[in-house]
This record gives sequence, structure tokens and C-alpha cells, in this order.
Amino acid sequence: MAFVISILFGSLAYQALGADPIADKVQSLPDCAPLPSNMFSGYLPVTQQKALHYVFVESMDKPATDPILLWFNGGPGCSSLSDFFVQHGPYIFDDGETVIKPNPYPWSIRANVLDIDSPAGVGYSIGNTTDDLLSNDISTADDAFIALQNFYKAYPQYRKNDLWITGESYAGIYSPYLAWKIHQWNLEQEMNNWNDTYNLKGFIVGNGMTDMYIDTDNVLLESVANWNLIPVSLWKQMDALECTYFWGKVSELQHNAEGCDELYKKGMGLIKDLDIYDLFRTQYNANTNTQSTLKPSVSQRRFLHSRHPLKQAKDSYISYDMESYVNRPDVRQALNIPSFVQPFQDCNDDLYNTYSVLREGSIWIYNILLGYEKRYRIMHYSGDTDGAVATLGTRRWITQQEGWNVTNEWRPWTTDGDVCHHSWSGT
Ligand SMILES: *[C@@H]1O[C@H](CO)[C@@H](O)[C@H](O)[C@H]1NC(C)=O
Ligand SMILES: *[C@@H]1O[C@H](CO)[C@@H](O)[C@H](O)[C@H]1NC(C)=O
Ligand SMILES: *[C@@H]1O[C@H](CO)[C@@H](O)[C@H](O)[C@H]1NC(C)=O
Repeated sequence: MAFVISILFGSLAYQALGADPIADKVQSLPDCAPLPSNMFSGYLPVTQQKALHYVFVESMDKPATDPILLWFNGGPGCSSLSDFFVQHGPYIFDDGETVIKPNPYPWSIRANVLDIDSPAGVGYSIGNTTDDLLSNDISTADDAFIALQNFYKAYPQYRKNDLWITGESYAGIYSPYLAWKIHQWNLEQEMNNWNDTYNLKGFIVGNGMTDMYIDTDNVLLESVANWNLIPVSLWKQMDALECTYFWGKVSELQHNAEGCDELYKKGMGLIKDLDIYDLFRTQYNANTNTQSTLKPSVSQRRFLHSRHPLKQAKDSYISYDMESYVNRPDVRQALNIPSFVQPFQDCNDDLYNTYSVLREGSIWIYNILLGYEKRYRIMHYSGDTDGAVATLGTRRWITQQEGWNVTNEWRPWTTDGDVCHHSWSGT
């Protein structure tokens, strides 16, 4: 009898995971002042066994008409929730700081921001079986699309708002793949005169992996030669031998002449103490901050992982403090995370290791979407001290595209009268 009762209790306690604006509403975040606009945190189901964790923050300006920015972190295996708590959410752990504070520039100032942890297993996203945690570029987009459809079922009032898919690093793959998937869906709807389309406007990628043959490791030494961090002559020798060094997950593509490995090792040795995500970053003083002694840098694992000898600067950017905060029982509760869900990790190494990467990268999607009735807009922005997905690679594959015409030549980009960076654009 007791046995039967416990089963009954078990099933009564079980609540199906599904997005629900009432149940998912976040009343407040521990250690933070009141939220400046409505925030929701919960699950978007994919299958019976998989559900993606989402955080949705309504615009502080005009939520009814402002666009939706759907954000992905990269990795593969890194959490969008981390970016929410260090970059664009209403409360953040700011660069080098150890406590959470109001973000003066949350993206929700002018947009409805939807963070999805993708694929299953990332952050607080759920994949209940081992198979559910095996992902690739296609399955990730398929799952994200189902999750997005479920988002709109729960929040139908946002269906008409402009939708932009955004992300950084390996989301240079995730964002275009999902955009392509939505585009295909919309075409099918239109061809059949159905009306179930999504209002996709385009996608936006920051320092994003795009071309497996150009991006990441392959332009790293050339970039740092241009910054005088290694001798230009060393890079020239590598160039003469046509040495190529691809990102670890596609490294079987490289076929190098004798002598390449030695030059590569020498070059990498010269920059081994720099921060791969900010090559000009000042090293912090190890004596004044004990955080770095806890374990190897979290951020070091974000893109290039163990194959890469470079370090993250020893400060608390993408900090342990953020990770510990997100893992706190009161924060998990505030975010509506069920107790069976795994602890939060900024980046999940197991998932990184089992994730399958398509060698095609994502340029083919640019050409399909740009060619389609000028319906979509695409933006790449690139921080030029990043060594993980260096600006040089992005520039190179863009200039290699045939038929992409420049409409605005290089020009200074100013904010409040100060030049902050340079841009160029085209069609
Ligand atoms: C995964 O397993 C948990 C615990 O057994 C269960 O509550 C949940 O419904 C399952 N499925 C998903 C998508 O979380
Ligand atoms: C499509 O049209 C039907 C019938 O007019 C309507 O009930 C439904 O809400 C529409 N769907 C969308 C997504 O606009
Ligand atoms: C780019 O310019 C060429 C030559 O003028 C033209 O044929 C082509 O259609 C242009 N491409 C786009 C996307 O406008």
C-alpha cells in the first residue's frame, strides 16, 4: 500500500515541462534589486526526453513591438545563461568583478531577449538519455526550432514581432542553421498558402565560427604576427610551407609539410601566457585574487579547449563567481530549475567532446539567405583582440565571396563623437 501511495505521490508531484508565462515568471533574482521588466525562466520541450532551458526578458521600452533577439552562446557546449549573467542580462558579473550588479546596458533596453541553452545538456537544458546528449549542427537547429515553436505557443503575442537570431563564437554555426531552418519552414508555408510563418528578419553573429578552413586556429598565428607578438619572419616561413592548423574538431583536414609543427610550436610558445579571448588583456596579479587557483580557467574552455595552449587571463571574467551564483539553490529556485537537473556549468566539456561538426561550416547559408529576394539582413561584428575567432578570418572569408558587393567602404564608426571601431558593409 505504501508502495502504491508513493507512486501516486510521484506522479502527482510530476509536472510536465512546458513553457508557461505564469509558472515561469521570475519574481526576483537573489541579491538583485527588482527586475526592470518582466522576466521568465523555464523549459521549452523538444521531445519527451529533451527540453531546452530558456530565459525571456521583455523589453523595457515597447515590448509589444520591439524585436525578439534570440541568443546562443557557442562552444559547442557553452551556456547562453552565462552570457545573460556577464554580458546582456539586467544584472551581471561585470568584467573582473565578483558580485552581481545592475547592468547599465541590458539588451532588454530595446529588445525582447530570449536566451536558449542549446543543445540539450548545455547549462540547465535537459537531455535525459545518453543519446539525447549527442548533437550535431543539424540536430541542434532542428531541436532549437521545435523549442522556438513552443516558445511562440506559450507567448503568442510575440509572434508578429521581428525575430533576429543572434549569438557568438560557435553560434556562427547555430544562428545561420536555425535561420535557414526557419526560412525553409516559411517557404513551405507560403508555397501552400498557409499562414503559419515566423517573422524572421535575419541573423547577427559576433566573432563567429563560419568557415572551418579559414577561421580559428588557422588565422591565429598570422593575426598575432601582425600585432608583433611573434616574429613576422616566423609567420612568413609557415606561409611559405603552406602550413595549416585547423580547429581541433576538424584537425584531420590539415596536411602539413615537414617543419610546420616545429614553427607552429615555436609561435604558440611565444603567446602561451596570453588570454585567447583578449590577447591584449593585462594579466591580473595572482596574489590578489584566489579565484584563479581554484581550477583551470572556465573561459579557456569556451571555444578552443584543451588542444589549445593559450590561457585565459587570470581574472574573474566569465567568472567562477557567476558559475557559483547560478548554482546557488535560491537562484536555481528563482529560475524554476527542477531538482533533478544537472548542476550548471559555463561550458560542458563532455558535450563538446561528443558534438559532431559539419565540415561545410555556414557560408552556404549566407548565400542562400542573401540571395532570397533581399528578405534578410545579416551582420557580423568582431572584437579584434579575440584570438579564438580572430577578425582576420572573418574578413578573409567575407572578401572571398563572389558577388558580395561593397555598398559602404571602410569608415569610422562613432558613438557620441568618439571613434570606437570601423565597419564596412555590402549586399
Ligand atoms: C526527464 O527526467 C525527469 C526525472 O525523471 C522527468 O521529470 C522529466 O519529465 C524527463 N523529461 C524531460 C524532458 O525533462
Ligand atoms: C492562420 O489563419 C487561421 C485562420 O484564419 C487563424 O485562426 C490562425 O490564428 C492563423 N495563424 C497565424 C499564425 O497567424
Ligand atoms: C554585384 O555587382 C555585379 C556587377 O555589377 C552584379 O552583376 C551583381 O548582381 C551584384 N550583386 C548583388 C548582390 O547586388
